[in-house]
Amino acid sequence: MPPILTSEQRADFARRGVSRRGFHQIAAMLAAGSAFPLFTERALAQRATDRALAPGTVKIDANENPMGPCPEAAEAMRAIIQDGGRYLDDLTPKMVRTLAAMENLDPASVYAYPGSSDPLFRAVLAFCGKERPYVVADPSFETGAHAARIVGAPVINVPLVKETFAHDVKAMAAAHPTPGIIYVCNPNNPTGTVTPKADIEWLVNNKPKDAVVLLDEAYIHFSSSAVMGSYLVAAAKDVIVLRTFSKIYGMAGLRAGAAMARPDLLRKMNQFTSGFMPVTATTGAVVSLNSKTLIPERRKTVHDIREETLAFLASHRIQTIPSEANMFMMNVNRPGREFASAMLNEKVAIGRTWPVMPTWVRITVGTAAEMERFRAACLKCYTA
Ligand SMILES: Cc1ncc(COP(=O)(O)O)c(C=O)c1O
Repeated sequence: MPPILTSEQRADFARRGVSRRGFHQIAAMLAAGSAFPLFTERALAQRATDRALAPGTVKIDANENPMGPCPEAAEAMRAIIQDGGRYLDDLTPKMVRTLAAMENLDPASVYAYPGSSDPLFRAVLAFCGKERPYVVADPSFETGAHAARIVGAPVINVPLVKETFAHDVKAMAAAHPTPGIIYVCNPNNPTGTVTPKADIEWLVNNKPKDAVVLLDEAYIHFSSSAVMGSYLVAAAKDVIVLRTFSKIYGMAGLRAGAAMARPDLLRKMNQFTSGFMPVTATTGAVVSLNSKTLIPERRKTVHDIREETLAFLASHRIQTIPSEANMFMMNVNRPGREFASAMLNEKVAIGRTWPVMPTWVRITVGTAAEMERFRAACLKCYTA
């Protein structure tokens, strides 16, 4: 057995039903420093497009934020680069303390990561296994299911509620007697729909014992109705809340994110981590968190452009799903991939299709000018 896994870690993997061969593979991958196939939004978006993007292509395929970091964050990051020859050890704890204070949490319940795909992946590796399935809505963000396959955990897909596209929390709680993780993306990627606070609370209080509810709040700042789940962490529930700076904060390429959970849950996720963040992203994250205007202003900008686009599509009798995030889904009445390919010919890269909704595509809300190009391309490519 490679010494990289402690006996406690081996015992934990075995308890979750990961085979000896499975943890040999994991240990070998860690020892070789090789990367796990971590399917992030970037990788998933890239994989769905069948060719390189031509210069000048409108990129509304990966839920990125065309606004980038807010000006104060950009300025602070430029300024810190000159000190980038130092580790600046106090910056990561400062980011943790800033977020903890805003969420009314003890800093021991907050951990910083370069984005939130990382802790999402870690949570699945830490809590799922052969006997501990990963329960996820369908359609939803796919990264966790990819992680589950690495530890041999079954993936149980639970359809969203038909009319509202919220998570069907009762069906998710009943999906398996011993799930490792029940994943709730709020608002959900790709539908942009919100799961009400009462439903999430019900799930947390009625889920099978020992299961962890993983609340992915990557898009929560775009919504005016979704309720943040950090109060459940403060109440010491079996909940992990994920946040990222890749969406409303416009820092996807700079990489900052966080997990909030009871310290014992965070410890399980962080068995292999330096816990140390790049000084640029950390500085940008702290300044962004302290901005009083960033969230309300950007939420309104995205809301206005999204609603204008949805109204345009409705005027052409194109079916869409109402959304509270920087994305929405539209029904193109033919295989989504075919439509996406036609749009790419018009130099508009749109998002992917989920197998359960094969004629629907995900559209990211871009700038007003980008959405004008999207509308023009749509009129050429859409047929009723
Ligand atoms: C639902 C959801 N969670 C997490 C992420 C993580 O993004 P990042 O790793 O850039 O923080 C994304 C990215 O698109 C996402 O859609």
